[in-house]
Amino acid sequence: MSRVPARAADPAPIEARHGMVVAAEPLAAAAGVAMLERGGNAIDAAVATGFALAVTYPVAGNLGGGGFLVAHLNLPDGAATRVALDFRETAPAAAHSKMYDEAVDAGRERPATVGHLAVAVPGSVRGLLDALERWGTLDRATVLAPAVELAEQGFVVPRRTAQFLAQDSVSRDMLRYAETARIFYPEGKPLSEGARLRQPELAQTLRAIVEHGHAGFYDGPVAAAIVDELQRGGGIVTREDLRAYRSIERSPLRFTVRGHSVITMPLPSSGGTCLRQMLGILERYPLSDLGHNSSASLHLIAEAMRRSFADRNTALGDSADPAVQKRISELLSAAHIERLASSIDPQSATPSAKLLESMAHDDRESEQTTHYSVVDRHRNAVAVTTTLNGAFGSKVVVTGAGFLLNNEMDDFTAHPGRPNLYGLVQGQANAVAPGRRPLSSMTPTIVLDPSGHLLYVLGSPGGPTIINNVLQVLLNLMVYGLQPQAAVNAPKIHHQCIPDRIDHEREFPADVLDGLRRRGHALRLRDSIGDFQAICVDSERGLLLGASDPRGGGAARGY
Ligand code: DON
Repeated sequence: MSRVPARAADPAPIEARHGMVVAAEPLAAAAGVAMLERGGNAIDAAVATGFALAVTYPVAGNLGGGGFLVAHLNLPDGAATRVALDFRETAPAAAHSKMYDEAVDAGRERPATVGHLAVAVPGSVRGLLDALERWGTLDRATVLAPAVELAEQGFVVPRRTAQFLAQDSVSRDMLRYAETARIFYPEGKPLSEGARLRQPELAQTLRAIVEHGHAGFYDGPVAAAIVDELQRGGGIVTREDLRAYRSIERSPLRFTVRGHSVITMPLPSSGGTCLRQMLGILERYPLSDLGHNSSASLHLIAEAMRRSFADRNTALGDSADPAVQKRISELLSAAHIERLASSIDPQSATPSAKLLESMAHDDRESEQTTHYSVVDRHRNAVAVTTTLNGAFGSKVVVTGAGFLLNNEMDDFTAHPGRPNLYGLVQGQANAVAPGRRPLSSMTPTIVLDPSGHLLYVLGSPGGPTIINNVLQVLLNLMVYGLQPQAAVNAPKIHHQCIPDRIDHEREFPADVLDGLRRRGHALRLRDSIGDFQAICVDSERGLLLGASDPRGGGAARGY
């Protein structure tokens, strides 16, 4: 890692020599480390953590959602391989671009975000099992054992989950669904911190997966329960949609910046594309001379964000769309990045209206996703970001099967011209269409040092803020020389073009904010951005340094 001396104020990260998992919930991180300790590799650990999070972190861990896995694997034959596994949810065959506007006209309330119609075909089970089969070393029963046990024996509800469940915006919607209410609101009250949560139906679903693999979920009684549930509430996912679901192995997006090799997620995530654009734009400016979190630096960073989000929201979508596929190489080209960079005025903000037609926006709902990072003793690295989309997804638990379903359909341009859950106003390129995957911002990322050795494994939840959060942590590490925990803890900004303003965390000094206002930026204070989970390799000391975000309740665990 960068050889910058630690400053006295830098909090120390967790250190481990052999292997490490950093995740948003400690029991799930421990489930992954248990696999490493018994000789499993980083994929085994990631899959164990993923299934455990589906039990212990219901706000975002999931069987009923989807995600992306990026890995850098040193294979037994000595070759290194980089993989990107797309297990994003998919629009069902009956989906179409006007379905949500029609549902609103028919009197349904928030159909793309709450309830059965918001659900896309889930991808997590298929993705995690495919990863295990292709690159793992342990068997399914071993890797799923911690999840089964946590579901069966129960675990103590942590403060964070109790707080999520108690939020009015969450409970209002969760209580509309009897099965969801039964599990998470016993006697009508949210589970409290310290209560024991046993999930026998979920344990049974997990056992079906152990026994039958993906068919235990996408076929048979669990699939029947999903479809029954969806039909009861007017959803459109069918048995055939479930049977047809596949994960897709893609070439990771790879590029070099400041001598480092970045390995990240291609479409249908916008994350890698935007990260490449923004890092490319900012490489052309002397950021470290301008100072960490100075107004001059933050202005350039915000202008890079604005430009990249303008491209994201208008041109990006599933690369299965030939029009999207055609645009992507141009958007990633050095010439385009150079054009974006040179259009920045270092002294003043470019109004987004100049880049885009100005559009209306409204306020956000609560949001959740989760990221985990894994490194094993062979320095195999896995970065996974997974989501139900909003907190607890569609809020619908599959009756009898014990897990929540996603509301990922809202990541499409569900209502053309109108902002989604995250205030994104997106284009035709991301229209709802059968079999398409909605554009994502999840950005699981791995970075190698200039000699090709593993350096960082990282990512975060946070909807569109994910991309900007990954950007800022990478700049903090690579450009400003911050130590890992300080890089994660440092306050963050977010600009997504529309609305035309910088969202910022509280800790920025007044003169820095004034400097941004003087350059013409509108500012908005925002509670907290993301829940970052990073592992950094200190090759000189032969150590793994784990930095879990103090904004959340996660932990680094290692051995
Ligand atoms: O894929 C996406 O971009 C969103 N569904 C992620 C949502 C998210 O990160 C919510 N987290 N806080």
